[in-house]
Amino acid sequence: MRILSGIQTSGTFHLGNYFGMLKSMIAYQEENELFAFLANMHAQTSVFDGKRLKDMTMQAAIDYLSLGLDPEKAVFWVQSDVPEVMELTWYLSNHTPVGLLERSHSYKDKITKGIAPNAGLFLYPVLMASDILLYQAERVPVGKDQKQHLEITRDVAIKFNNTFGDTFVIPEADIDDDVALIPGVDGLKMSKSYGNTIEIFTEKNVMRKRVMSIVTDSTPVDEPKDPDTCNVFALYKLFAAPDDLKDMADRYRKGGLGYGDVKKELFELIWNFFLPYQEKREELMKDKTQVRKILLEGADKARYHATKTLRKVRKRVGTTYFKDK
Ligand code: ADP
Ligand code: TRP
Repeated sequence: MRILSGIQTSGTFHLGNYFGMLKSMIAYQEENELFAFLANMHAQTSVFDGKRLKDMTMQAAIDYLSLGLDPEKAVFWVQSDVPEVMELTWYLSNHTPVGLLERSHSYKDKITKGIAPNAGLFLYPVLMASDILLYQAERVPVGKDQKQHLEITRDVAIKFNNTFGDTFVIPEADIDDDVALIPGVDGLKMSKSYGNTIEIFTEKNVMRKRVMSIVTDSTPVDEPKDPDTCNVFALYKLFAAPDDLKDMADRYRKGGLGYGDVKKELFELIWNFFLPYQEKREELMKDKTQVRKILLEGADKARYHATKTLRKVRKRVGTTYFKDK
């Protein structure tokens, strides 16, 4: 099965990214054809500092590799290293109804937040469709917030196929319902843009502070508490062994448990979970040339597939007149 997903390089990876997408991507590399890329062109819609974007892209590559992505098993590249994706974006944009883009939640959310809408933000889902269709992906692991983008991708692909004949594989979203929405420290969806994240690779003290700042209700220590409505428990669930989880739920319901104590336990679990990946990360941080090499080799492999699809598309849309490719 061909599996593909991208992640924006607009900030540091956090628990939502890990459980929503990175973890399943890394697991999929064992028995599938995995395509993993860093969406630095999508990040352009919110990062307007070239040096910063470049640094964050390198950091994202290092973090992804540290967490276990194996470039021998997966095709791993930076989106902008295969510019063919932009050509396909243009072709697809001519088969994307404006109304479909106007209904995009992520677009509407950003406008509501007061962000001045530019055409890049508006076309964001078309570039995403292009990422997916260019590589003929069958399945796309993402968090729930990306569901609508996948629906747009399918609509555009179906429309194009109906117009020109079968060209694209129609992809399916792969959303794990158990971890579909990881809450941030304020209880809202954990997201770089809300400033409520717990970052995977950060200083020990910083992580401890973030965990201790998770918002809870004000039920007194002695009284019974409901684990199912508690943000701390929602995160604890991701890390605890099944028996420990059951014990913790019982402790909640019994009363006598302080949120501060659960937070301390949660912090230890998170810290120890990611600790083994830090060694690899330190190694890669010292050898960015090697990381760049991995990414360029990945881009070569990706381009092979991209070109194959583009040849087909160019023929269909009629742009092969001069260059008979
Ligand atoms: P952010 O919202 O922090 O900018 P991205 O949009 O870069 O995160 O998301 C990258 C991937 O991580 C996507 O597949 C997205 O669905 C997933 N993801 C991000 N935040 C969460 C979350 N809180 N819960 C589940 N998945 C998430
Ligand atoms: N929009 C996705 C996000 O914010 C990132 C992304 C870009 C993506 N292109 C993609 C995800 C293609 C899956 C497939 O998380």
